Amino acid sequence: MTSAQWPILYRQHLTTMQDRAASALARAGLDHLVVPSGTLHYQFFDDRDYPYAVNPQFKAWLPLTRNPGSWLVYTPGARPKLVYLQPRDYWHVVPKAPSGYWTTHFDIVVVRKEEEALQHLPADPSRCAILGEPQSALGDYVPGNPAAVVDYLEYHRAYKTPYEIAMMREATRRGVRGHRAAERAFRAGASEFGIHLAYCQAAGQDANDLPYGNIVALNEHGAVLHYMDRDRLPPSPVRSFLIDAGASHDGYACDITRTYSANSGDEFQALVDAVDAAQLRMCAQVRAGVDYRQLHLDAHLALAGILRDFGIVSLSPESALETGVSSAFFPHGIGHGIGLQVHDVAGFAASESGGTIDKPPGHPYLRLTRTLEPGMVVTIEPGIYFIEMLLEELRAGPHAAAVDWARVDAFRPYGGIRIEDDVVCTDGEPVNLTREGFAAG
Ligand code: GLY
Ligand code: MN
Ligand code: MN
Repeated sequence: MTSAQWPILYRQHLTTMQDRAASALARAGLDHLVVPSGTLHYQFFDDRDYPYAVNPQFKAWLPLTRNPGSWLVYTPGARPKLVYLQPRDYWHVVPKAPSGYWTTHFDIVVVRKEEEALQHLPADPSRCAILGEPQSALGDYVPGNPAAVVDYLEYHRAYKTPYEIAMMREATRRGVRGHRAAERAFRAGASEFGIHLAYCQAAGQDANDLPYGNIVALNEHGAVLHYMDRDRLPPSPVRSFLIDAGASHDGYACDITRTYSANSGDEFQALVDAVDAAQLRMCAQVRAGVDYRQLHLDAHLALAGILRDFGIVSLSPESALETGVSSAFFPHGIGHGIGLQVHDVAGFAASESGGTIDKPPGHPYLRLTRTLEPGMVVTIEPGIYFIEMLLEELRAGPHAAAVDWARVDAFRPYGGIRIEDDVVCTDGEPVNLTREGFAAG
């Protein structure tokens, strides 16, 4: 797949978006889909804005992520229309004139002021499904986000088009460059802050573009699932490194985690290698017809087997899962859908018209309960962590004797392990975008 094919893939993608929109509108008995790109958000009592985050419903149609104040209008049977805000403003960089392979598919109207968009929206707002945040309201065009439309679009968004997978491959290419640079910086003795900068430099992205805040954790910090601090000095000694960092391309995300020991011959690296091998087996389970909840429960069994093999827990994997002991070491879900959003929507959707598929009891943090089908892209991110709070609870509970606390103490200074790839479900073998990316880069 080369970028030369993107225009063809994009055209097919747009057809899919139009078909989905037509079905969604028919369900709601509405005539037009109207999607504002979103607005800037300001800090309270301040005039500073947060990094702009485009409305995902907008970027689903267009590779535009830096255009606040624009509007997409789609009326089934007509060409999609883009009302493109290009303000006259000498304080900020204004969006360039529309350009790129996508432009030929839209009727484009350039406006200079936000209010000017009004005259280019459908005449009767009550006939529109307006999808957006409340701040995007313009006159009578107030986002109502009708459930019949949103549920339908979000449910179907789980099935990626070939164009979307191409965009995620491109995001992965960037992410892999960042991860390679981060590992080099770690091996060279950089601090968390230094590693983060090396990542951003190599990925060519920062808070404006990254799909989520980088998690760059040395030693015990690997035990904080969403560790967002970045120490300016490296610890001494440096033992381990967990990095969960992604990248984006034209609005699509990758989500990648790797863990390394400072000493490739030590037992922590052996534990990392065991999780890595188990993770690959889990990735191989990403197949059509597999219930993702089962994949999560199987992951517990696999990780509990590793805990037993390393002499950390003496229970059988089945008892470790049943008693909740495995959850003390693996306290999050096995993964989630990914695409336009790093945690993609509709993870629990029972159908295109709503409903919820429950999580397995005792597993509150699983974000995806659907059965896998071709086109879905999911992360597979098992981990083993040594988290003080959870270890204290385990030690005070009825299963304390099933744990070798001396072994726990030996691993505690390394924090934790997570290995995370993004995997496409197909009608045959799964495609691991992340491993492909590392193999190519
Ligand atoms: N990077 C957040 C996650 O892995 O879900
Ligand atoms: Mn993830
Ligand atoms: Mn992640």
